[in-house]
Amino acid sequence: MLTYNEYLSRVNDALARVEYPAEPRRLYEPIEYTIGLGGKRLRPVLAMMACHALGGNPDDVINVAVGIELFHNFTLIHDDVMDKADVRRGKPTVFRKWGATAAILSGDAAIGMAMRYVSRVDDAHLRKVLELINDTALGVYDGQQYDIDFEDRNDVTVDEYIHMIMLKTSVLLGCATKAGAIVADADEDVAQAMWRVGVNLGLAFQLQDDLLDVWGDEATFGKEIGGDIMNNKKTYLLINALNLAQGDLAAELNRWLNNDNAPRGEKVAAVTRIYEQLGLKQQSEQEIARYSALAKEALVDAGLNPVARAEFEQLIDRLTSRQY
Ligand code: IPE
Ligand code: IPE
Ligand code: MG
Ligand code: MG
Ligand code: MG
Repeated sequence: MLTYNEYLSRVNDALARVEYPAEPRRLYEPIEYTIGLGGKRLRPVLAMMACHALGGNPDDVINVAVGIELFHNFTLIHDDVMDKADVRRGKPTVFRKWGATAAILSGDAAIGMAMRYVSRVDDAHLRKVLELINDTALGVYDGQQYDIDFEDRNDVTVDEYIHMIMLKTSVLLGCATKAGAIVADADEDVAQAMWRVGVNLGLAFQLQDDLLDVWGDEATFGKEIGGDIMNNKKTYLLINALNLAQGDLAAELNRWLNNDNAPRGEKVAAVTRIYEQLGLKQQSEQEIARYSALAKEALVDAGLNPVARAEFEQLIDRLTSRQY
């Protein structure tokens, strides 16, 4: 096994070799800009790690990994339109810099580029990988639709939330780990266990993202704090606040949710205070720990050797205590 940074540097080398058509400039520049801003590159690294851990050559999955990262970047470009977000990876979003039309079309083009890379996987694995990617993509869109639908509902349950983040976020991490397993020629049950590693890590990962959206530091997180609160996103935090708040606290929370013209600073500070009074940061951290443990159990089911397993365990621990 290599370290995260060693896989990362192979991913970054491959991404640096991606060629963006010169014309139309306005179509490809936003993709190049988004990829150029970096990010954790978690999904392509997961694909390479999974392949390597199961005895494959990690370079055999590099094109799929690049494709998955391009696909992820497409989802971010569109997500920032949907979430009206100004900042991503510490810089203006495509939506803010070029507008919604550019974000829609450049996002579309990024899917095309993504599929071009994915389809470069060797013929023996092509059909399985394409099916996986396509099912995953549909799952992400389903999840993003639920995420938006839930903004207008105040009766979303924790189970519905978990189902929603399973779709919008987890399945892409599961896709990465499973694609690595497929290319390594792993047995179906091993590939399925690796998928569970990815999706359980994904659930913990999105819970942590929601937590950082409230208590993170904008400079390290790279996104504006309080976006979820401003959009009335039904995060684990807000759903539990709606369930637990009583009396004056419940009334105050509902006033903020129904106030479409609330000044950003005031609403974010007030809702954050309510979460803190209800002890929801700690509750959320416990939930993150629970899904991390499930991801680690799946590592055992996948039968990884001790070195590979330890590498994945460290990554899971690092991601679920991250500030970025
Ligand atoms: C952001 O993903 C979207 C979520 C699923 C939370 P990442 O946190 O992996 O974003 P980058 O790629 O590192 O910027
Ligand atoms: C992430 O949801 C899901 C996708 C981008 C598909 P968020 O809306 O929480 O992601 P961030 O916080 O904007 O990165
Ligand atoms: Mg979103
Ligand atoms: Mg968003
Ligand atoms: Mg978020």
